[in-house]
Amino acid sequence: MRPDETYQLLRSLTSPVVAITSERAGKRNGMISDSAVRASIVPEIPRISVYIHKFNFSHDLIFDTGRFALHLLRNDQFDLIHRLGFTSGRARDKLADVPHRPGMLGVPVLDECYAHFECRVANVMDTGSSTCFLGDVVEVGYGASTGPRGTVMTAAHFRTNMPPQWREEYETLLAAAQRFAAERSRDIKPVYRAPPPAPSGRVAAP
Ligand SMILES: Cc1cc2nc3c(=O)[nH]c(=O)nc-3n(C[C@H](O)[C@H](O)[C@H](O)COP(=O)(O)O)c2cc1C
Repeated sequence: MRPDETYQLLRSLTSPVVAITSERAGKRNGMISDSAVRASIVPEIPRISVYIHKFNFSHDLIFDTGRFALHLLRNDQFDLIHRLGFTSGRARDKLADVPHRPGMLGVPVLDECYAHFECRVANVMDTGSSTCFLGDVVEVGYGASTGPRGTVMTAAHFRTNMPPQWREEYETLLAAAQRFAAERSRDIKPVYRAPPPAPSGRVAAP
């Protein structure tokens, strides 16, 4: 099968579009991902995994601190995806105009989202070009104006309905990420990560 046909099939495995926030030494940040999935079937041990490319600023913040918050988004939050997912937070504070508060782990929790999960990194896996973070969910909540209803932003909904003026930039950024990944993906390193302290947080019923 042609590689681009394979890639289109792999797109069937993308996750909802989520916003991931992080914080290190007072520097806060947010990015967008469509590679987060449920990583546990045990309701009492909720876990999430997500792949984050090493060129992203968020990667280093999460790797160094072992903390992140992952937000399911409403399916009308296109502007937030553009704000967090099209430029890097290395040079500017992308959360400056995004209402948020510190969560129980000290990581920014966005007021506007479908729901959020605060996570402690339990383990990592190197892919060469990215790190797969396995997160223990320690706190859960709904967004300020959603509650348990509303519709979650999926990758397919975003790709189909994003404003047309963003599409060229999106394709350019994707192509650059693919070039980076192509160069690095075969250089997989074993990673040792010390186990985090036992979670002190509880999982709150939303
Ligand atoms: C729809 C969409 C999905 C994305 N999925 C991922 C992903 O799964 N992993 C990743 O590392 N970057 C992903 N990105 C790219 C990052 O969000 C983007 O590079 C961002 O600018 C990183 O910001 P930072 O450098 O401030 O961390 C995605 C972007 C978009 C728009």
